[in-house]
This record gives sequence, structure tokens and C-alpha cells, in this order.
Amino acid sequence: MKENIFSVLAEKACKARENSYAPYSHFRVGAALLAKSGVIYTAVNMENSSFPAGVCAETAAFAKAVSEGEREFTAIAVAGGSAGEECFPCGICRQTMAEHCTGDFTVIIVKSPDDYRTIKLSELLPFSFRL
Ligand code: THU
Repeated sequence: MKENIFSVLAEKACKARENSYAPYSHFRVGAALLAKSGVIYTAVNMENSSFPAGVCAETAAFAKAVSEGEREFTAIAVAGGSAGEECFPCGICRQTMAEHCTGDFTVIIVKSPDDYRTIKLSELLPFSFRL
């Protein structure tokens, strides 16, 4: 039984990573984004032979959620690389988070479903740009 929402997100991010499409870098990433509605949106990195057309897992998760009408978010879990490895969101994904979340948004860096740490968006991207 899963009592902790962070561990639920960590497990879903690890599970999502199995569907990663990363034939070029072979760096597989899964993300699980919790909206304030309670719905969890999972996504993976999706690479392209035209490299800049690739999309990160975190940004893909926001695209799914925003497309469904979600506008407020609580946390995202990110599982990247091999089990036991930590993957911190890239700069573009941090900016995407800053667009849709407040500084108290929680980013869960996942090594495995039972091994993760949390960090606030305000720590990952202080003094973020906003219009
Ligand atoms: N990647 C992500 O999906 N999220 C990140 O925060 C870092 C990088 C992906 C992009 C690319 O498909 C692969 O990892 C290697 O950079």
C-alpha cells in the first residue's frame, strides 16, 4: 500500500521511463506530474533524428496536463538515466515549471521508487524570468 504521494509519483516516473523514446542518447527519462486536481500525468522524453525537435519528459508532462485544462500543479517526479542515477531537470524544463508553477512546487529527483529526494522549484530556479 502506497501511503505517500511522493512515492506514488516516484514509482509512476520509473514506470513511465520504460516507454522513453531515446534511440539517440539512450538516456531514458520518465516524469509524473501531479496537478492540484489530483490527476497524475506521466510522460517520457521523445527524441528525434532532427535533434532539436526532441522533447524532455518534464515538458511533455506539462504539455499533456495543460492540454487537458490543468493550470495548477503540486509536484513532479523525474526518473532519468539508469536506476540509482539522479537526473536534475534541464534549464528549459525549469523555465517551463516556472511558467506554470509557484516557487513551492516540489520536484522529486528519483533514484528508484523507494529512493528519492525533494527540492523546491524556488531552489532549482531562483530569480526566474516572468512577464
Ligand atoms: N532529458 C529529459 O527528458 N529531461 C531532462 O531534464 C534532462 C534531459 C532528456 C532529453 C534527451 O532526450 C535526453 O534526456 C538526453 O539529454
